[in-house]
Amino acid sequence: MRIAIAGGSGTVGRHVVAAARRRGHEPVVLSRGNGVDVVQGRGIDAAIAGADAVIDVVNATTLSTRRAVAFFETASRNLLDAEARAGTPHHVALSIVGIDDIDTSYYAGKLAQERAVRASGVPHTIARVGQFHEFAEQIAAQTTIGPVTLAPTTLTRPVAAREVGEHLVRIAEGAPAGRVADLVGPRDEVLADMIRRMYRHDGIRRAVVQVRFPGAYGRGLASGELRGDVSRTTATTTFEQWLAADHVRSSHR
Ligand SMILES: NC(=O)c1ccc[n+]([C@@H]2O[C@H](COP(=O)([O-])OP(=O)(O)OC[C@H]3O[C@@H](n4cnc5c(N)ncnc54)[C@H](OP(=O)(O)O)[C@@H]3O)[C@@H](O)[C@H]2O)c1
Repeated sequence: MRIAIAGGSGTVGRHVVAAARRRGHEPVVLSRGNGVDVVQGRGIDAAIAGADAVIDVVNATTLSTRRAVAFFETASRNLLDAEARAGTPHHVALSIVGIDDIDTSYYAGKLAQERAVRASGVPHTIARVGQFHEFAEQIAAQTTIGPVTLAPTTLTRPVAAREVGEHLVRIAEGAPAGRVADLVGPRDEVLADMIRRMYRHDGIRRAVVQVRFPGAYGRGLASGELRGDVSRTTATTTFEQWLAADHVRSSHR
């Protein structure tokens, strides 16, 4: 299959591309680095021409509700409009488990993305997954000030991005299914502990201070809702296994 991967150069996107290759497909990466801008609508038609499926894993790092909604709505609509013109048979959208009652900040963008997909008329599958193990690296990179990392109080059920990549390609190989079962990791984790264990693993001496983020967003992170619902599929890689096998030490230094 020819599979177009929007965001194929990102944290999970690289794993989607690798999984597609392993499974004998032809991946095509859409990213600004490859001359395609899904927000500006530049280069999408040419990039998805002849694709059997489009997997959307683009991302913007923002906690602003307005910016998150604008980014995910615009990116999704531009991709879906192009897919409708091209007659693409399957759009696969990656979303996040447990966000229904956290319609604010970044998660408002993801809920807007899901609505845009459902309203598009394009045959689709929405796959919700837990936070990635890589989330520990991503948050540490954003919240480290000198010798201290401020970790938002977050209870989660994280999954390796590698397993998410495999999951998304398998979904793209099948028929559009609407919403599929959530994919989460094998254990509950507290984000601050994940970052501490990552630092210990890497020999980094840095304090990690857990901070309760304000408002509905902070409540949502701390509530445990981000562990997803009960009718879910469980991935196998634990955070420790991920640290030993997938984690690249230099990424958060
Ligand atoms: N991080 C988590 O724990 C987690 C958990 C569950 C689900 N997710 C979802 O997974 C998805 C990917 O997240 P990630 O952390 O892998 O993202 P990421 O590492 O930030 O990568 C983002 C990707 O999007 C591309 N991109 C950004 N703006 C673009 C634009 N205007 N046009 C074209 N491409 C653009 C980037 O490439 P260029 O910069 O070259 O454009 C890059 O390939 C998101 O939808 C996120 O909500 C994340």
